[in-house]
Amino acid sequence: MFICYNFIYFLKKEILVKNNSKSLMLVYIFTIFLLGLSLSSYLIFKFRNISVLGAVLFGILIFAADNFSVPLPKTGFVSVNFGISLSSLILFGPSTAIIVTLISSISIRDIFKKAPYYKHLFNSGQYLISIGVSSWIFEIMYNRKLDNIFFPRNIGIIFLAAIIFFITNTFLTASVISISDNIKIFNVWVFNFAWILPFHIFLVVMSVAISFLYKMYGPFTLLLTLMPLIIAQYTYMLRTNERKALLSSIMHIVKIVEAKDVYTAGHSVRVADYSEKIARKLRLSEYDIEILKNIANLHDIGKIQVDLSILNKTEKLTNEDWTEIKKHPIVGYEIVKEITFLKENASAVLYHHERSDGSGYPFGIYNDKIPLFAKIISVADSYDAMTSDRPYRKALNTYQALKELENNTDRQFDKSVCSKMIELLIEEQHKEHLQL
Ligand SMILES: [Fe+2]
Repeated sequence: MFICYNFIYFLKKEILVKNNSKSLMLVYIFTIFLLGLSLSSYLIFKFRNISVLGAVLFGILIFAADNFSVPLPKTGFVSVNFGISLSSLILFGPSTAIIVTLISSISIRDIFKKAPYYKHLFNSGQYLISIGVSSWIFEIMYNRKLDNIFFPRNIGIIFLAAIIFFITNTFLTASVISISDNIKIFNVWVFNFAWILPFHIFLVVMSVAISFLYKMYGPFTLLLTLMPLIIAQYTYMLRTNERKALLSSIMHIVKIVEAKDVYTAGHSVRVADYSEKIARKLRLSEYDIEILKNIANLHDIGKIQVDLSILNKTEKLTNEDWTEIKKHPIVGYEIVKEITFLKENASAVLYHHERSDGSGYPFGIYNDKIPLFAKIISVADSYDAMTSDRPYRKALNTYQALKELENNTDRQFDKSVCSKMIELLIEEQHKEHLQL
């Protein structure tokens, strides 16, 4: 894809307030902002020669790119704006690049959402530090006298500046998450940002091409290079918004299904949550995790067709009742496979009651025949069912449920998936003990 990243919107008010670290965070944010402001003012004063045409053209483009940025699953947004900043640095130098980058921190979306002032301060501050440090080093080392942009040393310096920007930008962002959530900064970084590096490198290559064409043939080349990228990003953003609207409608249906069964309120959301955590332990990609979460939310949607009297029955279910209930994975699959972006993985809904030893339903398939997503949802679903009250039994406590998982590894559950769930539960128990 064309997109890279921009983490400037991630800062959430809830994170700050939740951990009573607001004052520490505010001091940190003000420090970042003042540092960014001082550094950029100094560099603009030091290097001066601002290209007005460059600042206007690239400023408009970066403003558009930033406001059409696409949300990432976990933190931040993706956009091509780093490519625009870097191109303006290569072509016009630090002063113009700093002005262009500063424009990207003006977010119409945030202004309309009335985002807290410290969010704007942090966004501007961290961006100014990142572009400031990288452009300063770039300008000292880059040989502007050479007309050939592809001179190996110059290309190397462009990459060096891009890596410095990436490290500064992502570590500053990770630092805020680290302070607010009390997690080691390196872990936050690896978990949230390291995987975006290939996109970043792609943008560097793109910036070299944009700069080369601009230098050789003039500003109109931006219509052929950056404009298509921004339009692609805009289209992608519209698609993401449509997807979000569709998912929210579907989640309303899930709530209606759960409302039919008084014993399963909130079940799907919890299953999605456990599935996500297992997937992270299995080191699945962010893209896969997002799809899995959506599928897990919908895993029992087929129950919409099961009679209310069966779902809420307090006495033992008859064979006929079971026949009805066992249809829900098939009904659910028929629904989910109609959703374009989920159809490839809709089989996880179909097979979420299959078991490793082949004793599950609806088909009795086993082991490797069961897709990974179905195996994950199966473990998450069973754990949540075990730890919730049912008309015919009380909920198990975490320890008892853990034992159940252990006893059923390789029989009901896939061994590697189940071991990750057990690991997760032990860690959560450990954390709870530490908080007591
Ligand atoms: Fe189910």
